[in-house]
Amino acid sequence: MQIRLEPKPYATAEADALVTYVFEKDDKFDGALGEINRAMDGRLASLAQGGEISGRSLELVLLHFPKGIASQRLLLVGAGKPGKFSPADLRKIAGTALRHLKSRGVRSFVFLAREGEHGPAAAQATVEGLIAADFESDKYRSDRKNREIQSVSLAGFNGGLDANLEAAIQHGKAIAESQNFARDLINEPSNRLTPRMLAAKAEEMARGAGLGIEILDERKIAELKMGALIGVAQGSVEPPRVIVVRYEPQMPKPGGPVLGLIGKAVTFDTGGISIKPANNMEKMKYDMGGGATMLGAMRALAELKPSISVVAVVPATENMPGGRAQKPGDVQVAMSGKTIEVINTDAEGRLILADAIFYARKLGCTHLIDAATLTGAIEVALANVHVGAFGTPREYLDKFLDSTKAAGEKMWPMPIDDEYQEMIKSHIADIRNTGSGKGGGAITAAWFLKEFAEDTPWVHLDIASTCWVDEGRPWLAKGPTGVAIRSIVDFALKM
Ligand code: BES
Ligand code: ZN
Ligand code: ZN
Repeated sequence: MQIRLEPKPYATAEADALVTYVFEKDDKFDGALGEINRAMDGRLASLAQGGEISGRSLELVLLHFPKGIASQRLLLVGAGKPGKFSPADLRKIAGTALRHLKSRGVRSFVFLAREGEHGPAAAQATVEGLIAADFESDKYRSDRKNREIQSVSLAGFNGGLDANLEAAIQHGKAIAESQNFARDLINEPSNRLTPRMLAAKAEEMARGAGLGIEILDERKIAELKMGALIGVAQGSVEPPRVIVVRYEPQMPKPGGPVLGLIGKAVTFDTGGISIKPANNMEKMKYDMGGGATMLGAMRALAELKPSISVVAVVPATENMPGGRAQKPGDVQVAMSGKTIEVINTDAEGRLILADAIFYARKLGCTHLIDAATLTGAIEVALANVHVGAFGTPREYLDKFLDSTKAAGEKMWPMPIDDEYQEMIKSHIADIRNTGSGKGGGAITAAWFLKEFAEDTPWVHLDIASTCWVDEGRPWLAKGPTGVAIRSIVDFALKM
C-alpha cells in the first residue's frame, strides 16, 4: 500500500473513493463537508435529516457516484462528538474506512482531513491507523482473498510546510510497519517459530535495519548461569536463546542513559508439569508477544533514531512438560544468585524475565521497560481494554504513562505496595514464583520481576489480555494487536 500526500484538490482527485468524517453536531456540514453537500445539491443534509447520517462514532455511510466529486464513491465515517476529538480517533476512523472499503474490493482512496485536527500529528496517526488496519492473519489460508488497497492519498492536511507532513508520514509508517512486523511474529504457530527460528528472524530484521545483534545459545546461557531460564527451557527438546539487539545513536553521550527493553518470548506455553487445560491452549503460541513487541520497537527505533542507546533483551524458550522438565517444588538459582522455589511451572514468564532483566542491567541498562503476556489475572483486573502498567519509581512510570497518552494506547497504573512482596516470600528459598495469598496475581508477578530490577528505574507492562483480541474491531483484524510498541517508541524518542 502506497501512502502519499494528494497533490490535487480533493474534489478533482480521481480514486475509487473519497473518505472523510462527520461529527455528531447540528451544523454537520461546515467547511469541506459543506462544499461537498452543496455540490451534491444538499443531499447529505437531507440524509442527515432522515437520520441516516448521524455522526455517531464509526457509523459508515457509503454513497456511489457523488455529484461534483471525481472519485466514484463517498464514504462518510462517524467521528462522534467534536469536543473529544483527537489523533487517536483519526487512527480508528482511517482504519475503519480502510477495512470497510477493502472488503468491497476498492483499491484506492483519498482520505480528506477536516478542519481542526489536521497537522503533522494527525497525519502520523492517520498513517498509523491505515497501515495497522491493512494487516490480515490469513497467511496460511489457501482461499485468502486478493483484495488489496494499492494507494491512499491524504488531502486536507496542513503542516505549514509539506516537509513536516512528509516526515510525519514516514514516522507513522516506521511505527505501524514495525507493529505489523511484530504481529506477524505473534501469529506464527509454535512449530513455525521455535526459539531458534525467532532468533533467526530477529537477526534478519536487525541486519536489515542496521542494528547490532547477538544471539546467546544454550552454551552461553549455561555459562552465564541463567538458572531461572534454564529451568523453564529444560523440559523442551528445543534449546533456548537469548536475543540481544542494540541500537547506538550517532553521537552517544558518555554516561548517558541506556534503555533496556526486555520481552517475554515463550514460543509455546503448555504450562509445563503444571499443565494447562486443553481448552484454548492453542492461544499460547502468542506467549512470545512481549518479545515480539520489543523486536518491533527496535525495528521502529532503528529508523526513527533516538538520541539514547537502546538494548533489547529477549529470552526465548518453550515451556514443556517432559522427563527432564522442572517440577513444582524445584529450587532454581537465578543469574543474580537469588534462589527461587518454583511452586507452579506455569508461572514461567517471570522466571525467564528474572534472568533477562538482570542480564540487561549487567549490560549497562540504566532504565528498563519489560513487556510480557504474564498473567491471566490482568484480564480479571482490566479486561482487554487497558494494559496493566507497573513500575518504580513512580515518576518513571508517570513519564511512561505520558507516552501512552501521546501514542493513544490505553494503559492503567497498577499498585506495587510492599504488602504484595510478602506474598512471594518462600520458606525454602529467597522467593517463590507464585503469590501465596488469594488474588493480586498480576501484582505478585510484577513484584517477582522487581526483585531482579531492584532500584533500576523499571516499567513492567502486562499485555496478556491486550496483545491478542479474539474479536476483530472495525479498525483492526482479530488476532495480534501490536499493543505497546507505539508507547515504547514515543518514550525512547523523548528520553
Ligand atoms: N502465559 C501465561 C499467562 C497468559 C494467560 C497469557 C492467558 C495470555 C493469556 C502465564 O505464563 C501463566 O500461565 N500465568 C499463570 C500464573 C499462575 C500459575 C500463577 C496464570 O496467569 O494463570
Ligand atoms: Zn505459563
Ligand atoms: Zn506464559
